[in-house]
Amino acid sequence: MEKFIVQGGKRLEGAVHINGAKNSVLPILAATLINAGENILHNCPDLRDVDSAIKILRYLGCRVERSGKTITVNSAGMDRWDIPHELMREMRSSVIFLGPIIARCGRARLSMPGGCELGPRPIDLHLGALSKLGVEISEERGEIVCRSGSMRGRDIILSFPSVGATENIMLAATACSGVTRIITAAREPEIYDLQQFLIKTGAAISGAGESEITVTGGKTRNDASHSIMPDRIEAATYLCAAAACGGSIMLEDAEPEHVGTMISSLAEAGCDIKIAGRRITIDSERPLGHIPPVRTMPFPGFPTDAQAQLMAAACVAQGSTLFLETIFENRFRHVGELVRMGADIRVSGRAAVVSGVERLHGAPVRCTDLRGGAALIIAALCAEGESEISDIYHVDRGYEHMEKTIASLGGRIRRI
Ligand code: EPZ
Repeated sequence: MEKFIVQGGKRLEGAVHINGAKNSVLPILAATLINAGENILHNCPDLRDVDSAIKILRYLGCRVERSGKTITVNSAGMDRWDIPHELMREMRSSVIFLGPIIARCGRARLSMPGGCELGPRPIDLHLGALSKLGVEISEERGEIVCRSGSMRGRDIILSFPSVGATENIMLAATACSGVTRIITAAREPEIYDLQQFLIKTGAAISGAGESEITVTGGKTRNDASHSIMPDRIEAATYLCAAAACGGSIMLEDAEPEHVGTMISSLAEAGCDIKIAGRRITIDSERPLGHIPPVRTMPFPGFPTDAQAQLMAAACVAQGSTLFLETIFENRFRHVGELVRMGADIRVSGRAAVVSGVERLHGAPVRCTDLRGGAALIIAALCAEGESEISDIYHVDRGYEHMEKTIASLGGRIRRI
């Protein structure tokens, strides 16, 4: 299995191009099933999760071509409506294919998406909403079997602004007769990107980015071409790396308004952050100042996907920082590995208190999940000595050749 070998202690200097967003390209790839046409997606990141989504599209009968950052999906030839267990297991978020398969085929069969490193990943909000739209759902030997008679739009109130559930309802609602209103919808920018793609296919949809999204069902039959929005979590990750290691980094093709909470946390800790259009520059001197308390929340609050990365920076910041993880029940698995590098962190349930130390030291550590792995890389880059980071397949799911980007900034990291 591949590993990263990191020699810590170097400042990071240079420019980083921010890639297209993993959490936008995945639901939009799923959405290409609906219009039975030729869809061209630009600015697609080169990630393992994207490879998994392409495998599913091809299994379902679509023709998928990739050329650099452009993926072309022709879904006219779709001739299946099930996703087998082995493909579902590869990527837990494959549940996002449920809505589009039902919208296109009127039925769907998927194996229950397993839990993942973040804990059980229930889909009760997805299934509850789909059944309200008229989808009959049964469970057979660990598989979800859906049949939709005549699907009718209606008001759906989500008890929690689930990103995936909001997306699945938007996608299924395109095939409902009448109007579907999602009330207390998730407001993440990736949902707005999905709406913009759907509008290009002919969907009558509005409100994404706000708490109420309205979809009027009808034929979404136009071929669509769309450029994926920048990855706000990738941008947040590199901001944390610069803050932890010290240095001067410029992020290009970023969306500053999507990383406002991270910018605010790091500016409070003494980083000098400037915004010019789609460029963000950060200048940071060690030691990093005190990072104020962090509570993860649905957008526009602090993103849970950036919690681990900021925690890595907090390990070498002044004072103590309280982290409250309100979104996932098991998203501190990176703590044990950070402690192996000399971090001083106390966890109690969904709260973690990080007391900054002078220096972390290199150690052999293991990635526990995608964003936890990014946190270990940040910690290793600012530690003294050498770290060996294993299970890096987690990192490759959501970061495009991360070691190349870090090496271009002067970080001493290599993949073996
Ligand atoms: C999306 O996951 C993202 N993944 C996650 O990013 C992100 O952490 C999450 O949204 C929150 O922002 C993609 O977009 C592919 P949720 P999703 O439904 O849709 C509970 C990363 O690192 N819940 O908003 O699965 C759930 O257990 C990944 O890029 C239910 O209880 O997130 C969790 O505690 C990790 N029932 C909370 O809601 C449901 O039916 C948030 O889940 C659905 C969710």
